[in-house]
Amino acid sequence: MDRLDNAARVMLVSDLDYTMVDHNDSENNALLRFNALWEAYFRHDSLLVFSTGRSPISYKELRNEKPLLTPDITVMSVGTEIAYGDSFVPDVDWEQSLNHKWDRKIVTEETDKFSELVLQSETEQRPHKVSFFVDKAKASKVIEVLEARLVERGVKFSDIKIIYSGGVALDVLPRGAGKGQALSYLTNKFDGKTPRNTLVCGDSGNDAELFSVPGVYGVMVSNAQEELLQWHALNLKNNQNILHSSERCAAGIIQAIGHFDLGPCISPRDKMDSLEYSKQNMNPGFEVVNMYLACEKWQRGEVDKSEKFIQNLKSNFLSSGVFVHASGVEKPLYDCLDALEKSYGHMQGRRFTVWVDRVSSAQIGSDTWLVKFDKWELSGKECRCCLTTVLLNLKPKGFTWMHVHQTWMNGSTLETERVWLF
Ligand code: GLC
Ligand code: MG
Repeated sequence: MDRLDNAARVMLVSDLDYTMVDHNDSENNALLRFNALWEAYFRHDSLLVFSTGRSPISYKELRNEKPLLTPDITVMSVGTEIAYGDSFVPDVDWEQSLNHKWDRKIVTEETDKFSELVLQSETEQRPHKVSFFVDKAKASKVIEVLEARLVERGVKFSDIKIIYSGGVALDVLPRGAGKGQALSYLTNKFDGKTPRNTLVCGDSGNDAELFSVPGVYGVMVSNAQEELLQWHALNLKNNQNILHSSERCAAGIIQAIGHFDLGPCISPRDKMDSLEYSKQNMNPGFEVVNMYLACEKWQRGEVDKSEKFIQNLKSNFLSSGVFVHASGVEKPLYDCLDALEKSYGHMQGRRFTVWVDRVSSAQIGSDTWLVKFDKWELSGKECRCCLTTVLLNLKPKGFTWMHVHQTWMNGSTLETERVWLF
């Protein structure tokens, strides 16, 4: 939360499964389009918050499966756990506040008596969350009876919250928990740096309360579940700040950014079919995103094989610039461009994607920027990440890349490089 000096321009709060992540899209097209948009135009002055029903363990599993960006704040287990930053620092105060009037034992004793309730895996049972699967047809009856039984045991209706999501999952939480409560708690912590605009994004029952947080814009993605749409029709039907997008998942989020005029809404992935990318945008994030996209598209053979393309690229690099490869070997930057030139179409028809995460930059001189980011490369089944530092010099015509330095991140294989690419 301290990453930004000023109030965030946009705070984007998104659910993951079937909102940010489309499990029907094996190529992750919409997600990669969102990633490029966020790193190019939003990362430097906005906040990304993921708010998921998943526990920390299953959230990490999803991160290993899908090209998710690193959020500034992660809200997990249906708003019962909050963690900050890259190092995932837990919010202990939040968790403690949820103990108020929460008796987990009574909840499990009573839920045990329902044969309709099938306990979810151990990883999804959390200190302030008890979770089951239940048939759609039986859900509302079970909720009604469970509430009555808990009241008989002295648990007031006002002490707990029962949420039905995705037409399959039932969570029991303390009343003060939930995605909406967690967002309100976060908003109160900003202390004079309240984000200028907040966009919440969701698809299912546990997202509903995000939409009733005062002052937010919201998008229910096109593939939203019936339970969320019904809840909306009953509660917030005439709220102009909530959009039911016509696009699925992350594409719906991009659509909402445009609809509510929250910032640029054309992903660099959608408009970069040549290297003639705009030099008007002097944001280092935009520069880095576009450079790696150009390299990806060249290797995938998705741009015309032209001398001009390479010349254009070369003109962005200092002729005496140096590249320190992750393996520790040093080469002139121009050698990398020669290698890139030869690699045209090498990845055609193959699974090959490059994306950048956590772009941050510091202006270290009147026209010089030090930019740091994670560069991810998915090639076939192999996924590698390099911590990358770039020295950029700002000229009237745009940025010049002066120095590039990479380090393998843990988990990346030390495979000898195909070509000398940065
Ligand atoms: C996620 C969680 C699960 C929860 C569901 C709905 O799938 O893993 O425990 O029930 O979200 O909130
Ligand atoms: Mg979801």
